[in-house]
Amino acid sequence: EWTTGNIVEEQVEAILEQVGEARAICGLSGGVDSAVAAALVQKAIGEQLTCVFVDHGLLREGEVEQVKRDFVAATGAKLYVADEKERFLTALAGVSDPEEKRKIIGREFIRAFEDAEKAVLEEAAADGARVEFLVQGTLYPDVVESGGGEGAANIKSHHNVGGLPEDMQFKLVEPLRALFKDEVRAVGAELGLPAEIVQRQPFPGPGLGIRIIGEVTADRLEILRKADAIAREELTASGLDQEVWQMPVVLLADVRSVGVQGDGRTYGHPIVLRPVSSEDAMTADWSRLPYDLLATISNRITNEVQEVNRVTLDVTSKPPGTIEWE
Ligand code: XMP
Repeated sequence: EWTTGNIVEEQVEAILEQVGEARAICGLSGGVDSAVAAALVQKAIGEQLTCVFVDHGLLREGEVEQVKRDFVAATGAKLYVADEKERFLTALAGVSDPEEKRKIIGREFIRAFEDAEKAVLEEAAADGARVEFLVQGTLYPDVVESGGGEGAANIKSHHNVGGLPEDMQFKLVEPLRALFKDEVRAVGAELGLPAEIVQRQPFPGPGLGIRIIGEVTADRLEILRKADAIAREELTASGLDQEVWQMPVVLLADVRSVGVQGDGRTYGHPIVLRPVSSEDAMTADWSRLPYDLLATISNRITNEVQEVNRVTLDVTSKPPGTIEWE
């Protein structure tokens, strides 16, 4: 019988058999798949697993803590954190082109992960152990997709943070290979992962880097992070987050518009709310969110985020628009 408990049991056994006494390493992205894969492997081999989290500084408010604190508390996993915020900001300085940003983020991510990996390998070597396995949160649809050519995937280069270097020396452990997303979420819940991780909506690997239209800077990230946190908080409070596939919040960082606040003129940035409903992200429709909810989000953002003086709503379906603005 195919129950969540059985899946966990079966996978734990399979992992034990595959990995044995060896050590394994697993990259965490902040997303569901890598967290659940890591939690499963941790359950099977405990201390033989080291999780690696590269903090590229492009995650949303609270997400770094979800990995560093909540994931560790829930699983007891050994975690190596690489603070690489400066590295990514430096590499992204002066770059506005979306594909260029993706390339840089993808490239720096692989390099940063390799650096972290080196540190973990050295630590293991000091114990006289060898790291032989790399854990990946590959799902069944990923397996199918990479088997067949798929045109639409080429519209944007979809770097999944955690992309594999070509000259990989590890054997792969892929405990989610037979599972669909909803099963992965159920397994995560069964393993005691917090809802913020298990129910997380899709979020692109390049993170907020492709939601700042224009150059990515620390100040702009800060602005977007605040606006995004408010929008997500209100969407969750309304209960409609279950019906919305995802709601990118986009900062038009190179655009300024005039506003008025108190007796002063403001000259701030607009942000765009992009709530969409979708089955698989290949096509999408803009979500008809209630006006009251939109009003609350707009009021709060313009009151609480000083640099934003205008909130707009994207009412474009996909196609012709894509879900993300870049
Ligand atoms: P688009 O914008 O192409 O997005 O309609 C479709 C889905 O893919 C996500 N997305 C990405 N995911 N790396 C990712 O891992 C990327 O570069 C990337 N670009 C878009 C997007 O959030 C949506 O769920």
